[in-house]
Amino acid sequence: MSAKKVYVQTIGCQMNVVDSELILGRLRPLGYMPTDSVEAADLVIVNTCAIRKKAEQKAFSFIGRLFRLKQKKQNMIIGVGGCVAQQEGRKIMQRMPYVDLVFGTSAVDRLTAAVARIEADHCRIVDVAMADAIDEIGTAPEKMPSSSVSKFVTIMRGCDNYCTYCVVPFVRGREISRNPRHIIQEIEMLVQKAGIREVTLLGQNVNSYGTKDGHCAFPNLLERINDIEGLKRIRFTTSHPKDLSNRLMEAYGRLEKLCHHIHLPVQSGSNTVLKRMNRKYTREIYLDKVNRLREMCPDIAITSDIIVGFPGETPRDYEETLSLVRTVAFDSLFAFKYSDRPNAAAGRFPNKVAKAEKNRRLQELLDIQSAITLRIHQRLQNKTVTVLVEGFSKKQAEESDGCSGVEWSGRTSANKIVNFVQNESPMQSLPLSVGDMVQVRIEKAGPHSLWGRTVGSCFECSRPKGDNSYAA
Ligand code: 5AD
Ligand code: SF4
Repeated sequence: MSAKKVYVQTIGCQMNVVDSELILGRLRPLGYMPTDSVEAADLVIVNTCAIRKKAEQKAFSFIGRLFRLKQKKQNMIIGVGGCVAQQEGRKIMQRMPYVDLVFGTSAVDRLTAAVARIEADHCRIVDVAMADAIDEIGTAPEKMPSSSVSKFVTIMRGCDNYCTYCVVPFVRGREISRNPRHIIQEIEMLVQKAGIREVTLLGQNVNSYGTKDGHCAFPNLLERINDIEGLKRIRFTTSHPKDLSNRLMEAYGRLEKLCHHIHLPVQSGSNTVLKRMNRKYTREIYLDKVNRLREMCPDIAITSDIIVGFPGETPRDYEETLSLVRTVAFDSLFAFKYSDRPNAAAGRFPNKVAKAEKNRRLQELLDIQSAITLRIHQRLQNKTVTVLVEGFSKKQAEESDGCSGVEWSGRTSANKIVNFVQNESPMQSLPLSVGDMVQVRIEKAGPHSLWGRTVGSCFECSRPKGDNSYAA
């Protein structure tokens, strides 16, 4: 079979990154190999995100640009997948008659058959049927990463929470958890066959993993993954504060591979707004959980999501958000301007906040957070941290400190990016490789990353001596 080329454009969250890998796996039996050039592609897939209007506009503007390409290359197949495809369905076909395939978030399973039919019959297909079972395929060996140390592993899909601003329950469907046995098998395979050292478990609300489907609870799943030999680090995202149990908080003290970081979206610091968002916790409950997390794991990094300008958010509500941000002192923050979404209840709420005011609140919040992040980073100066080496940094060492040699990059357990050079100690016998764990002394702290150099003569190496197979 001749190699045809597929270009996949991924917009949005880590879920979509994983889905795009699944999409490539589904197209391989038809002879499609990935390409980085959209012009060279026989098939273009746009994997879309609907979380905010801006993401949706980005998808439509990319699809719009494909029109000219299709005019030049009549046989090119264009497919639109993901959350916007699920949300808009047939309307995309009407609006963009040059699109051949619209496939929703549950239709990846049926992608091979759909593309084969379009190739044979030159027909147009819309498939937005929702699944009531989760894809158990996981990571197949042929699409395993070759050079990375870290991998996302989906453990559940969908969401049942219906936060009033959010489109996810409408485009990703009901919450479904994967069988723990399949998750463990997938991670074991990633560790043994692809040299993966770190996994990030993905779900819209991982804290409620298993509860509906009768599988083990999330802390039990973590315990089982913690036992996987060769795996060094476990991360997960996203956690809903209402479902963050004591058992999960205790896991930070017990499980040595569980990274000291939690992403715990608070969304607002005002109880009135939290109630209208349908978040089912109060500011006090959130702050109490933050305190308990810090008791269990004093060096835990806490990051969060915040929406500014939710309908009816008064200056006073917004001040409460700022006060919560100062009280918690998050390690970092993703902040967003509220955006109306189709079907989400808040679209119908009165007292929308003006665009200019949303911009002002967002900028002020980001400025406050930048100062907090910098302060937290500065506290790490002259401290030694353990870094999992991910690859070369973008900059070379000469530019950063007048040193020669290569600048590496990796992350701490608390998910801080550390760029570093190797201390030229004669004791340091082995060359560094991707996947190694090294001790780095932090010399400089910036708002987005840290800089340092390795210390001592020993670093924990995950490969046998002389084996450079994971070298970047
Ligand atoms: N408007 C703005 N931000 C939103 N988010 C989700 N829906 C919206 C919306 N309608 C943000 C939330 C969520 C993150 C992934 O995106 O903060 O945690
Ligand atoms: Fe959306 Fe709320 Fe579900 Fe998160 S928990 S995906 S914000 S509905």
